[in-house]
Amino acid sequence: MINSSKRYTILTWGCQMNEHDSEKMSGILESLGYINTDKKEEADLIILNTCLVRENAEFKVYGNLGELKALKRENPDLIIAICGCMMQKKEIRDIIKEKYKFVDIIFGTHNIHKLPELIANHNQHTRMIIDVWEDAGNIVEGIPAKRKYGFKAFVNIMYGCNNFCSYCIVPYTRGREKSREPEDIVNEIKNLADEGFKEVTLLGQNVNSYGKSLDSKITFADLLYLINDIDGIERIRFMTSHPKDLSDELIYAIKKCNKVCEHIHLPFQAGSNKILKLMNRKYTKEQYLELVKKIKDEIPNISLTTDIIVGFPGETEEDFMETIDIVKKAEFDSAFTFLYSIREGTPAAKMENQIPEEIKHKRLKKLLDVLNPISHDKNSQLLNTVQEVLVEETSKTDSTILSGRTRTSKLVHFEGDTDLIGKIVKVKINNTKTWTLEGTITNGE
Ligand code: 5AD
Ligand code: SF4
Repeated sequence: MINSSKRYTILTWGCQMNEHDSEKMSGILESLGYINTDKKEEADLIILNTCLVRENAEFKVYGNLGELKALKRENPDLIIAICGCMMQKKEIRDIIKEKYKFVDIIFGTHNIHKLPELIANHNQHTRMIIDVWEDAGNIVEGIPAKRKYGFKAFVNIMYGCNNFCSYCIVPYTRGREKSREPEDIVNEIKNLADEGFKEVTLLGQNVNSYGKSLDSKITFADLLYLINDIDGIERIRFMTSHPKDLSDELIYAIKKCNKVCEHIHLPFQAGSNKILKLMNRKYTKEQYLELVKKIKDEIPNISLTTDIIVGFPGETEEDFMETIDIVKKAEFDSAFTFLYSIREGTPAAKMENQIPEEIKHKRLKKLLDVLNPISHDKNSQLLNTVQEVLVEETSKTDSTILSGRTRTSKLVHFEGDTDLIGKIVKVKINNTKTWTLEGTITNGE
């Protein structure tokens, strides 16, 4: 049994999948008696949960490792572990072995449930322990999670990705698509509801292909109906949706299920058909816009968000203007925008006509100049409306200001008492900005 005074901290980079993995590692560690600390200097165990999706996330990890070397020198008993997507690459593990010899434990995305064993083994040896699995094997159920909030929770519905978009490292770090059994998902959410959770976000790299790896013929739409019936849960969110797999059946389910929030994150990545083909996205610009139209016709108050990459190899000015064209036509509520980042081992890394950095930056600026006024305009349409908001936290700078999200996932600031955190309130919107809304709590409709 580990001494209860041991403290841990986890630094997390990357997507919600990684964030939730860190919640699971926290759950595991706390079941071993570890206590969480925010201060690295106080920690007996520091875990770096890494991301490989873009170069800058990778660099930040190396920067942190440099800093940890000094901590380890001061406290040789400190255990330093690295896990996450970066560790799935042999070349990166070799760099850690070579240049960061003070690291104690390396593990991967498929074996976080082995953490107790890895720590116990480390306590018996002084050598670096490396345990990375190439494949997940069977899904491990029942890992405890210590969730960041007590009212909203991430729930994995599937792991991995089969799409192999040509720029993306995820299929290589997270493996092939595997869906969880619907009973396991429903039981987890029922337990969350019993504990007082109100909102769940269903996580998968491509939730629309949920169920394809299972023997039963269940679809993502079927799963939404099942979850919609769980008492106590008031909001259901999901991400991410691949446009090629978003069926009419799913649009209908989103419309029919009263708890499913009016928000779809639907990455389009690039506007030109030439680039979409090179990206291996399996849809055209026209098909994407047709899908957007269909969604908006069926669910008029839907909020649409997206991911966009600028500067993919071979992207000409004309190709880029097709991206701008989609942005204008689809009128996204907001977008995550990325400079294309070469990922060794992906097909796009070997493509000719890589785009110079300064052109990528110029295009990104141009893109934001089109996106931001649209976001502002979409938010302005909510002026004087009353929105249902799940209260999340107090503002970091002013404890009388609360923040929360609308069903459409927009961030709202308003005055209120901290005992409202975790509750759903009605807020009348009286000011709108590009990324946030402001309002006052109201009882009216
Ligand atoms: N370069 C830039 N952005 C990328 N993404 C994935 N791989 C890359 C890359 N190599 C973006 C995509 C994806 C999001 C999670 O990250 O837009 O949807
Ligand atoms: Fe990466 Fe494409 Fe899979 Fe998304 S769908 S994780 S972008 S390969």
